[in-house]
Amino acid sequence: MVFSGMLQACGGLPRSRGCRMARVMKIAIAGAAGRMGRALLGAVASADDLALSGALVRPGHPAAGQDAGLMAGGAQGVSVSTDPRAVIAGCDVLIDFTSPAATLAFAGLCAAAGRPVVIGTTGLSADDMERLRAHAALIPLVVAPNTSVGVTLSLHLLEIAARVLADADAEIVESHHRHKLDAPSGTALAMGRAVAQARGRRLEDVAVYDRHARREARAEGSIGFASIRAGEIVGEHRVLLVGASERLEIAHVADDRRVFAEGALRAARFVYKAPAGLYDMRDVLGLR
Ligand SMILES: NC(=O)c1ccc[n+]([C@@H]2O[C@H](COP(=O)([O-])OP(=O)(O)OC[C@H]3O[C@@H](n4cnc5c(N)ncnc54)[C@H](OP(=O)(O)O)[C@@H]3O)[C@@H](O)[C@H]2O)c1
Repeated sequence: MVFSGMLQACGGLPRSRGCRMARVMKIAIAGAAGRMGRALLGAVASADDLALSGALVRPGHPAAGQDAGLMAGGAQGVSVSTDPRAVIAGCDVLIDFTSPAATLAFAGLCAAAGRPVVIGTTGLSADDMERLRAHAALIPLVVAPNTSVGVTLSLHLLEIAARVLADADAEIVESHHRHKLDAPSGTALAMGRAVAQARGRRLEDVAVYDRHARREARAEGSIGFASIRAGEIVGEHRVLLVGASERLEIAHVADDRRVFAEGALRAARFVYKAPAGLYDMRDVLGLR
């Protein structure tokens, strides 16, 4: 694929003095004023091969019209916009960490404009995924409820562990900050799905989300979920595989949102070169 835009980073130096034209991929961020949006603004600013081309917020947002970099450390020369069509038209890849409704709308605009998209938004329903799948005939999309490289590796390891320890009871405990709306987290669900699929089951058939309403012993093969919401915890996931006489735990702790931003940029570099289709972080890391 040919870069649709090329930014020069020579600072006016003549080529004879070692100046090389740098090819820079243009990244736009939807949800730029959010927690992840700000982490992404910072990560793009420190990546040599990327440049910010657009920062999208909701109409009426106080940051609209300001320099986007002011939300994350320093000016970047790009004004915060409320116009998704213009932002998408001006980018090579859109990175979207917003809400399911906004994500579906932006993905539709990306499909119409022929722009790849990385979706980090969680809480997408099965119907939402079907709608995104329809766009995958036209554009490449990475849908990643957790863009951390460590979490992606954990999913890979979990599949192996759940298959080998086929009879172990699986329980998943996740902790997040007090602002998070969905529970269990998208990552916890992905981990549950990995365990269920490794055992030839559907998560829908074995998941237990609430033990308060019923008084009954643990069902064979079930997968229990517990969610903690407190303070500013960035994200912790612990999967317990408990057998009769031994226990395996696979845990991942994110210390800084930057880990998700760096993973999203890795996904952007992947999706920019990928043919149309629906991908996840395992595709990005070559773990298929
Ligand atoms: N994939 C991952 O690794 C990962 C990691 C962390 C978080 N997440 C997910 O990413 C999403 C965002 O997380 P966050 O912590 O950054 O949340 P946040 O701080 O609430 O940020 C979300 C941003 O999206 C904006 N937004 C919503 N609808 C919009 C629209 N129609 N147009 C423009 N902007 C819109 C919100 O604006 P308003 O405030 O004006 O509504 C807000 O600034 C959540 O689904 C979260 O679970 C994923």
